[in-house]
Amino acid sequence: MAILFLTPSVNSAARWADGLRKEFEDEDIRINSGPEGDADVEFAVVWKPPPGRLAALPNLKVIFSIGAGVDHVFADPDLPKDVPIVRLINETLTTQMTEYVVMNVLWHHREMDDYAILAAAETWRHLHPPRTPDRRVGIMGLGVLGSAAGDALARFGFSLAAWTREPRDWPLGEVFSGPEGLAPFLGRTDILVCQLPLTPETTGILNARSFAALPQGAVLINAARGGHLVESDLLEALKTGRLKGATLDVFADEPLAPGHPFWSCPKVRVTPHIASLTYPDAAARTIARNIARFRAGEPLIGLVDSAREY
Ligand code: GLV
Repeated sequence: MAILFLTPSVNSAARWADGLRKEFEDEDIRINSGPEGDADVEFAVVWKPPPGRLAALPNLKVIFSIGAGVDHVFADPDLPKDVPIVRLINETLTTQMTEYVVMNVLWHHREMDDYAILAAAETWRHLHPPRTPDRRVGIMGLGVLGSAAGDALARFGFSLAAWTREPRDWPLGEVFSGPEGLAPFLGRTDILVCQLPLTPETTGILNARSFAALPQGAVLINAARGGHLVESDLLEALKTGRLKGATLDVFADEPLAPGHPFWSCPKVRVTPHIASLTYPDAAARTIARNIARFRAGEPLIGLVDSAREY
């Protein structure tokens, strides 16, 4: 039996090879190999697998994403239908995403962009942001990452709400759900945090219509996927002042191209898809535990619902 790691990134392949070999001393670890020996491959560990590659593995038992998101797996039109897909859930990923969301919510809440402008003009002035309980933060998506961010933000005392696909109870704030819940959710949100999975239903959800539903001067933090955002709509909303600012970690095309208007827009904070990084050693451990569970006939942790694509 063999574990096949598939990635377009040569750098990350080398680090993953080390991490996986440490966890699976007795197993055959292959990096971007094939087609010879494909029949031995039982487990695939993937980031943006080449389309059709997974379908060529006749004895594939599980596909593991090395990220929390699995949109890069579903992007393969020939994805084998009956092979379970597992996304990565681990403490490192969750902690880092929580840090990123909290850091940026606090940044916008305390109006640090305004202080940066004042400092550049050598101006000493006090601004008076709303107090924390009066600042309305809205989280789109209450999965593992969105819930953890919500828990952390609740400790600061923000006024929280969430938007989810289906109604659910959440002790930390009101939950709005479904298409009809979107506008009222946005209408009460000063700081919008996107933590949604990217699916056909959520593609382009951060668009002019959504921005029009936000209060004047709201801000956006997108740490989910670039495909959620209609970039030109955001630029327009920033230009008109409907949105005051945005923090973006993810983009339609990555790396963000030199000359892209986001780089030079003073209202946009750009980070290079680093909100939550996968550390090969920790992730390989998580995957090894899941493979042990699979072999013991136990349920996989992070199993994706293929119909929903998350
Ligand atoms: C990163 O974007 C991930 O999916 O974990």
